[in-house]
Amino acid sequence: MRAMVYRGPYKIRVEEKDIPPIEHPNDAIVRVTSAAICGSDLHLYHGMMPDTRVGMTFGHEFVGEVHEVGSSVENLKVGDRVMVPFNIYCGSCYFCARGLYSNCHNVNPNATAVGGIYGYSHTAGGYDGGQAEFVRVPFADVGPTKIPEWMDQEDAVMLTDALPTGYFGAQLGDIEQGDTVVVFGAGPVGLYAAKSSWLMGAGRVIVIDHLEYRLKKAREFAHAETYNFTEYDDIVVEMKKATDHLGADVVIDAVGAEADGNLTQHITSSKFKLQGGSPVALNWGIDSVRKGGTVSVVGAYGPMFSAVKFGDAMNKGLTLRMNQCPVKRQWPRLFEHVRNGYLKPSDIITHRIPLEHIAEGYHIFSAKLDDCIKPIVTTAA
Ligand SMILES: NC(=O)c1ccc[n+]([C@@H]2O[C@H](COP(=O)([O-])OP(=O)(O)OC[C@H]3O[C@@H](n4cnc5c(N)ncnc54)[C@H](O)[C@@H]3O)[C@@H](O)[C@H]2O)c1
Ligand SMILES: [Zn+2]
Ligand SMILES: [Zn+2]
Repeated sequence: MRAMVYRGPYKIRVEEKDIPPIEHPNDAIVRVTSAAICGSDLHLYHGMMPDTRVGMTFGHEFVGEVHEVGSSVENLKVGDRVMVPFNIYCGSCYFCARGLYSNCHNVNPNATAVGGIYGYSHTAGGYDGGQAEFVRVPFADVGPTKIPEWMDQEDAVMLTDALPTGYFGAQLGDIEQGDTVVVFGAGPVGLYAAKSSWLMGAGRVIVIDHLEYRLKKAREFAHAETYNFTEYDDIVVEMKKATDHLGADVVIDAVGAEADGNLTQHITSSKFKLQGGSPVALNWGIDSVRKGGTVSVVGAYGPMFSAVKFGDAMNKGLTLRMNQCPVKRQWPRLFEHVRNGYLKPSDIITHRIPLEHIAEGYHIFSAKLDDCIKPIVTTAA
């Protein structure tokens, strides 16, 4: 089969690999028909995630057709069209039983924090991902779901990560009726978080980024007010001005570890390796939220950060909530929102790239060229 393969930072190739075999009776092999590239894949692409091994196939957002099933699989059969959440999880451990699917205890013996994620380095279990013609899906009776007849394939791909994660970001904000919500980041996750904030009762939604074309999308798709942080001396002061000098009720960090906007943070991370990236969006969030407010973090961070304003968070009495998204927990409500037309997830897709050209897809998405917001990878198989 053809598969995307990591060859080192900024080096992606398409190579011939064996079709993955069934390794456990509850595995399925899925023939991928559509996958996406996620902002999280960019952390891998940039060499920021520990233990990203040469030869790994990325891709944790994909849908496809069941090609083969293990002997114990009961819920799926060959030929079913399935959507697969990005989390790999057992469904029955202490954490899964409490809905913490992204923290499953049985799928990633190398880590005590994160569970398993397709194509997301050996830190997240070392599973190959779905930017390929075929992928092995463990615990096939637990994660995947048949794509409902009425759902478009591209909407289904967006439901495997980006949309549930944005929605989860809004959920973690504990938004109350009329709240002012500030979302840092106008990528796919931030756009969906902004849109979802209205669903949770927000009275005002503000989105911050420095890419004008994405802010335009935030206005059109998520009906948000927008601020370009490069146009202000201090975006935090601007947020105070916009909120009667109190600060926002809720802030959602949809940026993560590779934030722009502060040179010192870049130098301490990339030159001196003192921390695993730049937490500047998180710090702006801590500073922009009001005392007693909530900061929801869905932007991804590696283990070590030295320059987070933790003392300010403590002294302001903030609630910090965060996690990798437990995707399937969000599906019942999101399916309804998509079915009734309130959400059209595929509206943010800007590029459709054949698997053979995926290296170009990574480049365009990473360098934010050609007004790219969300690239989809298609397979010819
Ligand atoms: N928690 C989860 O389950 C989960 C799932 C998917 C993605 N993620 C993470 O969410 C984050 C966003 O993902 P995405 O696909 O939208 O990525 P993306 O790279 O497309 O979007 C990030 C956006 O943040 C903007 N940005 C950079 N610095 C900023 C700053 N200081 N202030 C405001 N905006 C800034 C960028 O210009 C970009 O538009 C990533 O860190 C990704 O790893 C987490
Ligand atoms: Zn992702
Ligand atoms: Zn589990």
